[in-house]
Amino acid sequence: MIILSIESSCDETAASVIEDGVKIISSAIASSKDIHAISGGIIPEVAAREQLKCILPVIEKAVRRTQKFTNNNPLSFFSFIDAIAVTIGPGLIGALLIGIETAKTISYITKIPIIPVNHILAHLYANWLEKETLPTFPAVGLVVSGGHTEIYLLKNHHEFVWLGGTRDDAAGETFDKTARLLGLPYPGGPAIAVEAVKFKTQSSKIKLPRPMIDSGTLEFSFSGLKTAVLREIGQLKALKQYNNRTISNMAYEIQESITDVLVEKTLLAAKMHKVKSIILGGGVAANHRLTTKFKLKIENSKSKIDFRVPPPSLCTDNASYIGSYAYFHNKPLKWHQIHAEPNLEVEV
Ligand code: KG4
Ligand code: ZN
Repeated sequence: MIILSIESSCDETAASVIEDGVKIISSAIASSKDIHAISGGIIPEVAAREQLKCILPVIEKAVRRTQKFTNNNPLSFFSFIDAIAVTIGPGLIGALLIGIETAKTISYITKIPIIPVNHILAHLYANWLEKETLPTFPAVGLVVSGGHTEIYLLKNHHEFVWLGGTRDDAAGETFDKTARLLGLPYPGGPAIAVEAVKFKTQSSKIKLPRPMIDSGTLEFSFSGLKTAVLREIGQLKALKQYNNRTISNMAYEIQESITDVLVEKTLLAAKMHKVKSIILGGGVAANHRLTTKFKLKIENSKSKIDFRVPPPSLCTDNASYIGSYAYFHNKPLKWHQIHAEPNLEVEV
């Protein structure tokens, strides 16, 4: 089954062609991150305008890269497509509508059905792409993105149970907001990771909290960390110790705090539900320190748990995992049944 998938929920415009949910035949992506870096964060109206600018060129690029189907004629491509997959939520309404209305227009003209996709659950399906062996069930899935920190129990492709999430800020949001406090660029996660590496050989004099790490629950709360960072910056400034070295130290501690909590809670979920695998998804899963900690902890516990994390390019937003999710949750609808759902439930 060949799926043309489209993603436009936030600041990436992406299209992919996916075979049987596991093979990326082609993929194209445009990002408006550089524009948001200038404003220090995402302005929804700006993101939507960028989506509009990029959507057709990106789809065209993905289609042209499937030359074996097209003989260089993009129109003939559509006779090989079984379904169109599109993100319907959660996300920014203006941005979502661009991908959705484009998918609906293609569907209206070609009569190809549309499979609606939940962006957050789909993030986990990056673990099914381009792999020699596929993840095994039951699995615990951790989705850590700009707006979400969610833990799921995946019994199989059709039974997902939401186990816990954040009470306030998401992990990615915490990286972004604390980076901004430190004067680092957007997106904050990669910027903090770069700063933290500069510090790694020194011992940290700054100590930040690990919010809710010992709560014994699968709930997160990261807003206190942001407040602690603000307080620490104030104290360092008052002591005239706020400099490049202490900024790197802060970045290091922020990364340590967030990754400690994410690892602890996910391993707790895995233990509680006796799963065979742990799978990660979302932009924060691209964090090298996070994956190193997971691997070390699992290795040290002598557990046989199969730990999976997609390559960084598949952790951050793209359309390939949208196509993979759609293949495994193949419930096609007619174009007029598809609507944007910016607040689509993630607690399934
Ligand atoms: O999944 P994603 O690309 O978009 C959303 O659906 O939100 O995630 C974006 C988030 C941002 O908050 C960004 O700072 C974070 O992922 N991120 C990272 C890294 N790369 C992206 N956080 C930590 N380390 C990284 N290497
Ligand atoms: Zn995402």
